[in-house]
Amino acid sequence: MQKPVAIPTNNLEAFWMPFSANRQFKKQPRMLVRAEGMNYWSHDGRKVLDGTSGLWCVNAGHGRPEIADAVHAQLLELDYAPAFQMGHPKVFELAARLAAVAPQGLDHVFFTNSGSESVETSLKIALAYHRVKGEGSRIRLIGRERGYHGVNFGGISVGGIVSNRKHFGALLAGVDHIRHTHDLARNAFVRGVPEHGAELADDLERLVTLHDASTIAAVIVEPVAGSTGVLIPPKGYLQRLREICDKHGILLIFDEVITGFGRLGTPFAADYFGVTPDIMTTAKGVTNGVVPMGAVFVKSDIYEAFMNGPEHLIEFFHGYTYSGNPVSSAAGLATLDIYQREGLLTRGVELGEYFADALHGLKGLPHVIDIRNIGLVGAVELEPIAGAPTKRAFSAFLECYERGVMIRTTGDIIALSPPLIIEKSDIDLLVGTLADVIKTLQ
Ligand SMILES: Cc1ncc(COP(=O)(O)O)c(C=O)c1O
Repeated sequence: MQKPVAIPTNNLEAFWMPFSANRQFKKQPRMLVRAEGMNYWSHDGRKVLDGTSGLWCVNAGHGRPEIADAVHAQLLELDYAPAFQMGHPKVFELAARLAAVAPQGLDHVFFTNSGSESVETSLKIALAYHRVKGEGSRIRLIGRERGYHGVNFGGISVGGIVSNRKHFGALLAGVDHIRHTHDLARNAFVRGVPEHGAELADDLERLVTLHDASTIAAVIVEPVAGSTGVLIPPKGYLQRLREICDKHGILLIFDEVITGFGRLGTPFAADYFGVTPDIMTTAKGVTNGVVPMGAVFVKSDIYEAFMNGPEHLIEFFHGYTYSGNPVSSAAGLATLDIYQREGLLTRGVELGEYFADALHGLKGLPHVIDIRNIGLVGAVELEPIAGAPTKRAFSAFLECYERGVMIRTTGDIIALSPPLIIEKSDIDLLVGTLADVIKTLQ
């Protein structure tokens, strides 16, 4: 039992909380004060099962001493080293080790500090790549409806979630979107990868016809769309997208910020679906979420295309003060050690079936209109309350938290993405509590 921690309730105003209902929260704060393994502890002393790996990032579970020790030692040995024109050993070691676990061919790594920055970096690499190759007319970027690629201007431009876009002006020019793949009419309650919808990838041909391939630099998609509510690509869809990109010389970018590092039961979604992108963005799981870091993987021919001209010149005018900083690199190395030692990058295979059984057992409960699963990701889609979309799922979130389980909601979809160290008994508690809560929903 955690001792209750007094929270300064008269002092919550200054912090403008990201992606939060600030007023609701500040009236009824949900403070987390400690975490270990599969659990958080709240300020009022309750244990809260983490059904979402924090924000899809704490894949190896909370409070790992190996990562804490590595970070502590690194801070004392070399706290910071300039990222531009200088290096330190751990960032090179981490890049090589990450390239070794990445899908074959993705063997160069550019470091960032977040998923959003990884996305911006990937889009800039794509545009600059065509230019250094003498195809500077390829200036268009194609995203997908309902896509989430972080919150920076490139990411919200190629992203397809209206509330993340509508307040922010004209966004990037030269962006278009292919259709999303969510199809409840044909695919509701399917276990794993849905059967129907591979042909939706042909929507890219429509945009090629409209804009001409010679103007298109890249297509970016999440292999499994997460933040929009766990949309699993139909069988054959990603293969088809790959074929169309190859046919037209368009780069394919997979945004693996949530699917990377074992979420689907394979190291990356590219491994799960057997489709290798040209560029792959990651973040979150790189350091188990504990120190900000992102990593963008690129194929050799992309990296090599930049390596020309006089050797004293900078090849790619892009980077961040904290790209591959020593502390993040140390955290990344310690995290990879844990993933490899405990087999976490493939643990989702072992537990995925049990998780799927539990989740699909919710079929038939009130308001449930779809259930989706893949690896250790699941979603329960609820019928929205007429005239009050998102309210039903948000009530489920609040009630689950009251009962000691943390879930995440987006729109009226409940998403589950527990740490990969989860045990069957935790799955029972997670899904059992969710079932009880769904039964109480208005
Ligand atoms: C697919 C995808 N891309 C990018 C991001 C943005 O990551 P960050 O919040 O670290 O900027 C997210 C975050 O959830 C994501 O799911």
